[in-house]
Amino acid sequence: MSPTRLLLAPMATLSHEALRRTIERFGGCDEYYTEMIHAPSLITGGKFEHWYLKTGPCPEKIVWQLTGGEPEPIAKAAEMVADIGGLGIDINMGCCAPEIRKQGAGISWMLKPIAETAALLREVRSVIDGNTRLAGSSPLRLSIKIRLGSDDFTEEGLLTFTRMAVDEGVTQIVLHPRTKSEKFRRTPRWEWVQRLSEELPIPVIGNGNITGITSASAAMSAAPDSAGIMIGRTAVSSPWIFRELKNGDREQNPERLDLLEIGTQFLDDLMVYQPQEFHKTRAQRFFSFFCDHLTYAQYLRVKIANAPSASEIRTIFSAYFDEVPENRFYSA
Ligand SMILES: Cc1cc2nc3c(=O)[nH]c(=O)nc-3n(C[C@H](O)[C@H](O)[C@H](O)COP(=O)(O)O)c2cc1C
Repeated sequence: MSPTRLLLAPMATLSHEALRRTIERFGGCDEYYTEMIHAPSLITGGKFEHWYLKTGPCPEKIVWQLTGGEPEPIAKAAEMVADIGGLGIDINMGCCAPEIRKQGAGISWMLKPIAETAALLREVRSVIDGNTRLAGSSPLRLSIKIRLGSDDFTEEGLLTFTRMAVDEGVTQIVLHPRTKSEKFRRTPRWEWVQRLSEELPIPVIGNGNITGITSASAAMSAAPDSAGIMIGRTAVSSPWIFRELKNGDREQNPERLDLLEIGTQFLDDLMVYQPQEFHKTRAQRFFSFFCDHLTYAQYLRVKIANAPSASEIRTIFSAYFDEVPENRFYSA
């Protein structure tokens, strides 16, 4: 596979510093989108909000993903994160979860009258451009992460929407090429990543169902003009995926990965970079994906899901390899 830009997807409860550190141990990726940050909560200074502002271990690769249903809190939140720095600010315009849509956030921005979304982008762009924190350096990039739109979306509608975004100062688009109600089972339509890449004068990144070299190569063949690939779930189950894609086929010389060590180091980081109140649930979420490589994955997932604490999760995870030692090392 030819080298291309590789991005970690924003994933609520997963795309935090402990995961980024885990990925960095394998050489990292080019951009780390944060989990979505709820703009109204951030600006009112909720108890946990400062945890969402962590930028390690690569502050220069951070892309802040903001979510909200109104322009004002999003613009204020943009001002706050622009003060911290990073690579860019992304507005979540693709999330279809009912609680997000109810707020007028996520994919609602693709479905509202286009002038409302244009006004939001204009406001955020002007906040970013007006940020003088780093005098002389270029302002943060503004990007959006979108889907195809509603289930009856049209090419004309998608192009009108994305051209509007470009006109309002968006300089990167990530397309998760599924419609509003299409679930993960539905094959993502990478041909639309190609279509936008051909039509827009800015980088277009594709996202969806990349699990290894084969699927990445197929995506790149379907969208040869795209600027890169964003990976979500596989970056949790296989934090070495970016290195695998960069290095190409290692079949001749696979590396032996110590899954016990990787999982344990992740837990160590989780204790440091997340608040105590989140340790258990975030460990559970991580291991629900990371267990994928194990023979008795479902057995372990259930045990971890029922664990009363993060320290118990550590014990359960480690004990698994006493029971099934042949699972400890994984060749990739
Ligand atoms: C647990 C989970 C949380 C997610 N949270 C977000 C989010 O905060 N913002 C967002 O734009 N997309 C979110 N997504 C969607 C992912 O960014 C990505 O578009 C989707 O998982 C498809 O990519 P993948 O097949 O590589 O996982 C989430 C996905 C998952 C599985």
